[in-house]
Amino acid sequence: MKTWVTGGGGFLGSHIVEALAALGRSVTVIDDFSTGREANLAAAGERTKICRQSLLDPEVERLLGVERPGVIFHLAGDALVSRSVADPRGDCDRNLLATLALLEAVRRVSPESKVLFASTGAVYGEHAERPFQETDGVCPISPYAVAKLAAERYCYAYAHTYGLRTCSLRLFSVYGPRQEKQVVYDLIRKLWARPEELSLFGDGTEERDFSHALNIVDAFLLAEEKAGFGGEVFNVAGDETVSIRTLAEMLRDAMGTQSRLMFSGQRRPGDSRRWVADTTRLRALGYRPRVKLRDGLRDTIEWYLRSQE
Ligand SMILES: NC(=O)c1ccc[n+]([C@@H]2O[C@H](COP(=O)([O-])OP(=O)(O)OC[C@H]3O[C@@H](n4cnc5c(N)ncnc54)[C@H](O)[C@@H]3O)[C@@H](O)[C@H]2O)c1
Repeated sequence: MKTWVTGGGGFLGSHIVEALAALGRSVTVIDDFSTGREANLAAAGERTKICRQSLLDPEVERLLGVERPGVIFHLAGDALVSRSVADPRGDCDRNLLATLALLEAVRRVSPESKVLFASTGAVYGEHAERPFQETDGVCPISPYAVAKLAAERYCYAYAHTYGLRTCSLRLFSVYGPRQEKQVVYDLIRKLWARPEELSLFGDGTEERDFSHALNIVDAFLLAEEKAGFGGEVFNVAGDETVSIRTLAEMLRDAMGTQSRLMFSGQRRPGDSRRWVADTTRLRALGYRPRVKLRDGLRDTIEWYLRSQE
């Protein structure tokens, strides 16, 4: 059975490709490499085929009709709230229209393929007093989160209207090796460049529920096996909520610096104060985060230091 990974050249997609290759599966990566890199696929193995193609290109539908994969892990898109704030129209192309193009192609030529969509916890919007549950209302506050929510809703509608087999995973604050963006990477980079002082946005009380990339891989593989594929959504998080101040202190300790933490007091546009997930629904399928935050941060620092050699 063929497996597709869209966005397989990116941070998360490449970890999924590697895990599939280790299982001996035959994988096709669809990626336009707008942000991804072929170097991320160095360990992808001989059974991985790489197609440098945008999902917005009609050629993808032709290829889909030929390969008719059993499963499509759909990670192609953009993961940056800040880029969506600067360019909402481009973000809509990458996160919404690319997903719609994929769903249409699946509907026309490969309706039996399961589609697992990488959505985001950002769809919930501003902080709640308790962790977000999938049944909570959604109120996205950034263009990125609006596009992701719309894409998620298309996945649901295609399941209900056309009988496609879809589900969406709402990922919360992911980090890990090969991620050259987002808060964990930014803080490591700054601590390395200027160990005496670490400047941060916000006031340090913002809370996040960080997930190592390998926990995300586990969540996708578990959902592939056990989800119902009627368009349902699952929260995916690390189940270890920390404040940004605590995160900074953990990174500072792990890197052995004495850095003074300096908070700007300014929150970045589109960022929520609290992104914490209730993962009961995914846990009911058997999900347990394999990589603990402390170990995952150490792993990410080691990768960063190796990449600087
Ligand atoms: N990293 C996170 O914290 C996070 C959190 C929630 C959701 N997500 C979602 O998970 C997915 C993967 O995130 P990531 O951090 O690995 O991002 P990434 O930028 O590293 O990977 C995305 C990949 O998609 C490719 N791509 C973009 N548009 C494409 C198109 N039209 N056709 C084909 N390929 C295209 C890029 O070249 C890249 O390789 C994204 O959809 C993102 O929105 C990520």
